[in-house]
Amino acid sequence: MAAFKRVGVVGCGLMGSGIGQVCAQAGIETLVREVDQPTLDKGLGRIRKFLEDGVAKGKVQASDKDKILGNIKGTTKLEDLAPCELVVEAVVENIGAKRDVFSVLDKVVKPDAVLASNTSSLSITEIAATTTHPERVLGLHFFNPVPLMKLVEIIRALPTSDAAFDRAKSFVEQIGKTAVVCKDTPGFVVNRLLVPYLLDAVRLLESGLASREDIDNGMKLGCGYPMGPLTLLDFVGLDTTYYIANIMFEEFRQPHFAPPPLLKRMVLAGYMGRKSGRGFYEYGK
Ligand code: 3HC
Repeated sequence: MAAFKRVGVVGCGLMGSGIGQVCAQAGIETLVREVDQPTLDKGLGRIRKFLEDGVAKGKVQASDKDKILGNIKGTTKLEDLAPCELVVEAVVENIGAKRDVFSVLDKVVKPDAVLASNTSSLSITEIAATTTHPERVLGLHFFNPVPLMKLVEIIRALPTSDAAFDRAKSFVEQIGKTAVVCKDTPGFVVNRLLVPYLLDAVRLLESGLASREDIDNGMKLGCGYPMGPLTLLDFVGLDTTYYIANIMFEEFRQPHFAPPPLLKRMVLAGYMGRKSGRGFYEYGK
C-alpha cells in the first residue's frame, strides 16, 4: 500500500499537536489547522518544546528536530487541507463541533481521502452520518502523551469500508504505532476498561478507605502501573474523564460508569487536574 505523503490534523491542542508531531516524525508532510493564529502558535510551540526537551534528554537529534519541525505547517483554514490523503480531527469533544468540521472536510478533500476522528467517546457512526461519503470515515483514537504512547485504536463505524480501514491501518504502521481494532461503542477498548477503574479509585477516596497517596502507590507498586489512578486522573483531566463517564453511563446505564459525586464536585469547583493547577494533587503554575 502506498505510504501517506500528506496528512492533515484539525485541532492543535494537547492531542492534535501530538498527532501532528508523530506524523511529522514519520516524514509525512503535515498540515495542522487551528481556529486562529494565537491558538495555532500555542500548539506549534507545544510541539517545538516537546522536541527540544527530547534533545535535552538525548532522545532526539538536534538535526532531526529541525527536520521534523520542517515537515509541519500550520493554517487557520480547513479548506487548505484539500490535498491531504488523510485528515485526523482532534477538536473539542463536542458532537456539534465535530460535525461542523466533517461537513466541511467532506466537501474539500478528494473523494478517496480518509477522514478520521480522535474522539474518545462520541459515536463515529454519528460523525460519519454528517458526510456524503460515510464509508471513508473512521476513528483513530490516540493516547496522551501521543508521542510516547504506542497505541492507536482504530474504530470502524457501521458504514466504514474495508478500503478506508486498510488505509488507516497502514497509516498507524507508518507512524510507528500499534493498532487495536474496535467496534463503534462508547469508550472503545481502553476507556471502557480504564474509566470504571478511575471512577472506582475516586469512590475509594470518597469513602475514606485510603489516602490519595496510598491508593496511587497501591496500583503503582502493587501492579506496576506507571501512574496511580488519581495521578492519572489529574493527567488526563477530571473534566475529560467526567465527560466520558457520563457518555458511557448514558449509553450503557450501568452503575460502574456513573461518575461519583466527588468527581462531579471537583469539576464544578474547577479542579481539573494538572491543567488547572489542582486536582487530586496540587501543581505549580
Ligand atoms: N522526547 C522524547 N522522549 C521523551 C520525551 C521527549 N520530550 N520526554 C520523555 N521521553 C521519554 C523518556 O526519555 C523515557 O524514555 P525511556 O523509557 O527510554 O527512558 C520515556 O519517554 C518516559 O519518560 P519519563 O521517564 O520522562 O517519564 P515517565 O517514566 O514518568 O513516563 C509517562 C511518563 C509516559 C506519561 C508515564 O507516566 C505513563 O505512561 N503514564 C500513563 C499515561 C497514560 O495512561 N496515558 C493514557 C491516558 S488515557 C487517554 O489518553 C485516552 C483519552 O481518551 C482519555
